[in-house]
Amino acid sequence: MDHILSGIKPTGQLTLGNYIGAINKFVKLQDKGESFLFIADLHALTLPIDPEVLRTNSRDLAAFYLAAGLDPNKSNIFLQSDVSAHAELAIILQNYLYMGELSRMTQFKDKSSKMKEEAIGLGLFAYPVLMAADIVLYDSKVIPVGEDQIQHVELTRDLVKRFNNRYGDVLVMPRAEVAKVGARIMSLSDPTKKMSKSDPKGDIYLKDEPAVIRKKIMSAVTDMEAHVHYDPEKQPGISNLMTIMSSLTGKSFEEIEKEFEGKGYGDFKRAVADIVCSEMENLQKRYKEVIESGLVDKVLEKGAKRANEVASKVLERVQKAVGLYHK
Ligand code: TYM
Repeated sequence: MDHILSGIKPTGQLTLGNYIGAINKFVKLQDKGESFLFIADLHALTLPIDPEVLRTNSRDLAAFYLAAGLDPNKSNIFLQSDVSAHAELAIILQNYLYMGELSRMTQFKDKSSKMKEEAIGLGLFAYPVLMAADIVLYDSKVIPVGEDQIQHVELTRDLVKRFNNRYGDVLVMPRAEVAKVGARIMSLSDPTKKMSKSDPKGDIYLKDEPAVIRKKIMSAVTDMEAHVHYDPEKQPGISNLMTIMSSLTGKSFEEIEKEFEGKGYGDFKRAVADIVCSEMENLQKRYKEVIESGLVDKVLEKGAKRANEVASKVLERVQKAVGLYHK
C-alpha cells in the first residue's frame, strides 16, 4: 500500500479552505494507504507566534483531524517536532536546493514582500527544504494538498530527481493529489483572493458559531449577473459559493445551476449557509467530544511512535547514500 503524507501548519485558526482542500481529502484517502498526517509545528515557527498559541493550536488541529473522521487506527497523526528526523533530513537536503529556486516560491514572495529584508527569517526562506524533508521521509507517493502547495511539491519532485541522479534510487518520487473541486476556496469578502487564516471577514473558521457563519455567507461578495452560474472569471463570488456547496454535497455545478435557475442570490446563499452550518455544527460537536475524551495526547503519542519507525529508516538510507560515516 502506498504511503500518503500531508501536514497543516498550526498557525491561526483553521478555515473552511483547510477543511475542504485538505482535511476532507485526508479522510477520503485514509483507506487507500497508510497515512502520515502531521501538525507542522516546526513550520509554524517561520513567522512570529506566541508559544501558548502554538501549543493550543497544535492540540486543536489534532482534535479537528479526529473530529473530521480520521481514524487513529488507520492514520498516523503526530507532531512534526516529535520526529527529529524531519529536522535532521532538512539539514542534509538543504544542500540540494538552490537560493534561486527558493526565492521564486510564491508563498515566500507573498509572505516576505511586506517585510524588511533584515526581518525575514532564514526559516521562512528555507521553508520548502523542511517541507521536502517532510515529504520524502515517509517514502510517500501521494501528497494531498490544496492548490497553493502544489509548487512546493513540484520543487520536492525536482529535488528527488536531482538527488537520485546523483546517488541512485534513494528517494521515492511524490506527487501532489489535489481535489478536482475545492482545491482553492476563495475569500468571501474578496473572491479573487484565497481564503487564508488571516482575514476574519472573508474566512469561515471551523470554530465559528453557526450564526456567524450564516452572516458571513449572507454578506459574501457576489456580482450583478443575477443568475447562479459557474464562471470563476466573471462570477468569482458565486462560483466560490458553488464550489463550497459542491464540495460538501457532491452535487455537480450543473445540478446546482439547475436547482437555482430563476432564483435569487438570497435563496442560493441561504442554501449554502444551511449546508455549511450543518457540516460545521456536526464537526464542532465531534470536536468537543474529542477534546473531552482526552484522546488527543494518546493519539499523538501512538502516531509519533510509528512515524519515528518509518522516518528513521529513510533518514538512515539518505545518510548512508551521501557518505555519512558509521551509518
Ligand atoms: P497550510 O497550513 O497553509 O494549509 C494546510 C492545507 O490546507 C490547504 N488550503 C486550502 N485548500 C483550499 N482552499 C484554501 N483556501 C486553502 N487554504 C489552505 C493547503 O493547500 C494545505 O494543503 N506548507 C503547508 C504545510 C506542510 C505540508 C508539508 C503539506 C508542511 N509540510 C508536507 C504537505 C506536505 C502549509 O503551510 O499548509
